[in-house]
Order: sequence, then C-alpha cells, then structure tokens
Amino acid sequence: MHMVVSLAGRDMLCLQDYTREEIETILKTAEMMKIWNKIGKPHRVLEGKTLGMIFQKPSTRTRVSFEVGIYQLGGLGLYFSANDLQLRRGETIADTARVLSRYVDGLVARVYSHKDVEDLAKYAKIPVINALSDFSHPCQALADYQTILEKKGRIAGLKVVYVGDGNNVAHSLMIAGTKLGANVVIATPEGYEPDKRVIKWAEENAAESGGSLELLHDPLEAVKDADVIYTDVWTSMGQEAEAEERRKVFRPFQVNKELVKHAKPDFIFMHCLPAHRGEEVTDDVIDSQNSVVWDEAENRLHAQKALMALVMGGIKV
Ligand code: CP
Ligand code: NVA
Repeated sequence: MHMVVSLAGRDMLCLQDYTREEIETILKTAEMMKIWNKIGKPHRVLEGKTLGMIFQKPSTRTRVSFEVGIYQLGGLGLYFSANDLQLRRGETIADTARVLSRYVDGLVARVYSHKDVEDLAKYAKIPVINALSDFSHPCQALADYQTILEKKGRIAGLKVVYVGDGNNVAHSLMIAGTKLGANVVIATPEGYEPDKRVIKWAEENAAESGGSLELLHDPLEAVKDADVIYTDVWTSMGQEAEAEERRKVFRPFQVNKELVKHAKPDFIFMHCLPAHRGEEVTDDVIDSQNSVVWDEAENRLHAQKALMALVMGGIKV
C-alpha cells in the first residue's frame, strides 16, 4: 500500500469515484486510527472543525460512529433529522448546501434518493459524505474491507460472496471489492439483481485489478468455498410496502447453518446490520465463531474517522 494521494476536499458519494490506491490510503489510515484509538494516543487532527449530519432515515451505527468519530478527532458533530431543517418546509437542497457550507467544515447525509446527496455535493463548498442512499453505502464498504483485511490479511484473491438483495450495500461491496482485486460473487433472486451501471463498473474494475465478478441466482453454488459470506436485510428502508412479498421471494436466500456448510471452514460471516434474525440470517450463524459482525460495526468508527481526517484536511498524505 502507498500513502501518496491527497484526498483533501473530496466528496465521498460512491467508491467508484475513487481509485484503488485512494481506497487503500483510506484503509491504511483506518488501521492507524484504530491503533491510535486502542493505545490511547491523542489524534485530534480535526481540532475545532464542525461536521453537519443530515439524516432523512433512522440510523444507529452511522449516526453514532460519525458523532463519536468527529469528537475523538477534536471536532464537533451536529445532528439534524430532515424534519429539523427548513428542507421539510421546501427550502431546496441546493440552498441548504450553500448555507451549511458557511457554518460547517464537512457534511454527512443519509438520504432516500442518491440524487439528493449528489445535489448537496454539487452546491456545497465543503466535502460531502454519503451516509447511505438508495444507491450506495460507501462508508459501510470501507469498514467491511478494513474488517476483511484484519481477519484475512489480504483482500485480493479472496472469494467474497453476497447473498440476498442487489441493494445499496451490495453495490458498494461489489464496487470496492472489484477495485481491490477480490473475486466478488453476488447471488440474488431473479429480478433483484444489482443495478446495471454497477455491474458494468464492477466488471471494468475487475479487469483492471485482476479480481472478478460473478452474478448468480443460486445461493448454494455461490457460497461454495467462500472466504466471506455477506448478507443484508431483504427489505431496505423505504421499501416497507414490499416486505411481505420480499419475505417470500428471498426465503431460499437465507444464510443458515445448512448454507454456510459449503463455504471454507474458516469463512467469515458479515452483515452491515441491523439484522432481521430469522429472516436473512439465523441466530446460529450470526452468533457463531465465524461471525465478525461486531468488529465490522466497530470498524465503521475507525474507517469514517480516517475518511473525515483525509477529506476534511486533518491528515495530509
Ligand atoms: N449499517 C448501518 O449503516 O447501520 P445504521 O442504519 O444503524 O446506521
Ligand atoms: N440496505 C439497508 C441497509 C441498512 C444499513 C437499507 O438501505 O435499509
């Protein structure tokens, strides 16, 4: 890994906008953040800076890890539910971005439509970080690959299998994985495949990195000899009206003891959380020795601190 790229001033909307080297710089910095955190070394590299956090949807991990993260970096986080802002009363995203840019040094936004976070970035004069949209969840994928690297010592050449809905989390996992040289396999029911643009990007990324992308509809075939098995909820935020239908369609894609028997014995189980136990994953998998979900959740803190420090100018590489 090389620490040669400056990320100061950059937005993080989608990992496809970042090169392999840039993603590796963030992962390396995340590892450093974790060590500093564990040994109690002060790292107030964003002393006096302020982070605005706009959330249109609920959150446990993302909200808390960003708020704690900016505090540990010496700054202040300001949380706004979309209802708290004049956005709800019709002030445009563009005007909100222009105004908040005069007060805060960085923005985090969790939105329904990806276009909202793109518009925020377009009109803000400060870095904007996507904290989940209907299209992608880049901060999650950064923490995911930090976790894989910790547990497996490498990313390139690993078989990373995602079983479930071809959603925002799947998109970011496949984009980052193919950039970093992993062999990414996505198994979804028919009609729930990832977005076509993301498939095209991931194929291009894999051709460049030496990784690969495979799209399947058979979960059993997918998890054969897997190093990583990843799943997410069947019904994402905003899709609640489809929940009943989805429970039927996704039933054969449940990650349970039977399914994981086909993976490598030392496979790791991952989930972005929150989990719907008994739906996409059973207790005996998520609570097993192979599960790394709590370390994965912790790494949201370290990965996002790295990202903030780099894009908000606290660490210059
Ligand atoms: N994984 C994740 O983004 O969790 P929250 O919805 O709790 O933030
Ligand atoms: N795919 C899920 C992820 C939650 C962190 C959702 O969008 O609701």
